[in-house]
Amino acid sequence: MSPKIRVAIFGSGTGSNAKNLIQHFAHHANVEVSWVLSNKPQALILQHATDAKIPTRIITKEDQANCSTLISELRERKIDWIVLAGYLWKIPAELCAEFPNKIINIHPALLPKYGGKGMYGHFVHEAVNAANEKESGITIHFVNEHYDEGNIIFQAKCSIDENDGPEGIEKKVRALEIAHFPHIVESTILL
Ligand code: GRF
Repeated sequence: MSPKIRVAIFGSGTGSNAKNLIQHFAHHANVEVSWVLSNKPQALILQHATDAKIPTRIITKEDQANCSTLISELRERKIDWIVLAGYLWKIPAELCAEFPNKIINIHPALLPKYGGKGMYGHFVHEAVNAANEKESGITIHFVNEHYDEGNIIFQAKCSIDENDGPEGIEKKVRALEIAHFPHIVESTILL
């Protein structure tokens, strides 16, 4: 039997997507979540990993300035793919070069709209709401060295009702994330 494809998840927040990915791949025949990394030591995402007995690592400002140690560790752990699940720091160019078309991100809007620096979490939903958009959704895409500009793998839409507000939009978008992200990651990895 060939070894499983090894995935590292990077995240900065509550980790609902990471938790969903961990559960999805927990008993998968070909893919495993092997490592979970965060730039925030207190982030709940690390707790989800620990609960699932998955090793964790903190990404420091030093890693961000020079990621050669992090890249060596990713090699040592034989990580094949990186999945960004609410990760707020920019991926350094050297790391993008080490994983060409092997880093996947989820963005809580329909790119190319509402992407780029500073467009994350509630800022995205507030901007979508302020623009009176009639729909929003999720974009799952490859990561390159420019924020939110890699090739799009998948999008799903939700309609916005007049009274949704940013919170209502977020709720609908999060439901799409939970429904689609693990399946799209799986089919992309196994392609
Ligand atoms: C999600 O909305 C994701 O699309 C975005 O950041 C949020 C992360 O939430 N990139 P969580 O940490 O997975 O709960």
